[in-house]
Amino acid sequence: MDVIQKIGVFTSGGDAPGMNACLRAVVRKSVSIGLDVVGIRRGYQGMIEGDFVDMDSKSVSNIVQKGGTILKSARSKAFRTPEGRKKAADQLKAAGIQGLVAIGGDGTLAGASVFYDEYQIPLVGCPGTIDNDLFGTDETIGFDTALNTAIENIDKIRDTADAHDRLFLVEVMGRDAGFIALNCGIGGGAEMVMIPETLTDLDEVKNHISSLMSSQHRSSIVVVAEGDENGGATHIASVLRADSAFENIDLRVCILGHTQRGGAPSARDRVLASRLGVAAVDALMAGHTNVMVGIINGEIKLTASKNVWSRKKSISYELLSLIQMLG
Ligand code: F6P
Repeated sequence: MDVIQKIGVFTSGGDAPGMNACLRAVVRKSVSIGLDVVGIRRGYQGMIEGDFVDMDSKSVSNIVQKGGTILKSARSKAFRTPEGRKKAADQLKAAGIQGLVAIGGDGTLAGASVFYDEYQIPLVGCPGTIDNDLFGTDETIGFDTALNTAIENIDKIRDTADAHDRLFLVEVMGRDAGFIALNCGIGGGAEMVMIPETLTDLDEVKNHISSLMSSQHRSSIVVVAEGDENGGATHIASVLRADSAFENIDLRVCILGHTQRGGAPSARDRVLASRLGVAAVDALMAGHTNVMVGIINGEIKLTASKNVWSRKKSISYELLSLIQMLG
């Protein structure tokens, strides 16, 4: 294999706060060891279209504190086809790009794995998703910021819920994962949390919440992960409202949605992203490929990309029992 002299870096899938900090680290580390770096705009879609931009130290100035991604992101349908991936490989070849750093979530790394199997272009992934659902790292870039955004909003909802003695169902992001829900449920003092990793019996929710609300209570907050098997918060609210036990309970729904994806990255996310960006370039230059860099127990670890998206990262059952006890 030729020695890598030019690499491409891109952000893909749902954006996450800290992606810019990671990009900055990838670019500055690369420049420091004499590599040429090309930014690929709009993830795999930009790769297919050859939407490339040369990057240097200056092009990543003043972005460490910014949410979103200056390279923009996309969920490319075309890259899911062999024709799309062939175009992408041709574009990389024409631009002389010999290695890639992908910053994204499970879809990004699944795409990377297939692409590597087909074209063997060295690739290292950085875990960037607010969902924290990637095997091979304790935390993903963006998770901490999203969690803090969710908690901040739950605190605000608690004020108004308390003023009116209302029940609020607060829906947080997490298509297939309950990491945000579980953690903001504990940090926000929620009475219950509903997550996709566990089966929640709606009758139990009804019994628990209606008895809480009819006792000395006050307000209640139930945090629902968007991927919960009972459906989203809006659907669950309609089921509760139809129950006679909820006749006198004032219920509201609040969907936090994409507010959790935006905003300045937390200190923790900036540090995580910087460490992982540098580690990704180190891994690529050390000859690792088709792997993701992660941090486990404080240390940089590499995990085969296919394990990252095919193996399920477990939620903490200790946290789950905490919420059951405290709520
Ligand atoms: O993967 C991150 C995530 O924010 C999920 O939690 C959510 O389900 C999804 O992206 C939303 O994606 P989009 O912004 O494309 O609708």
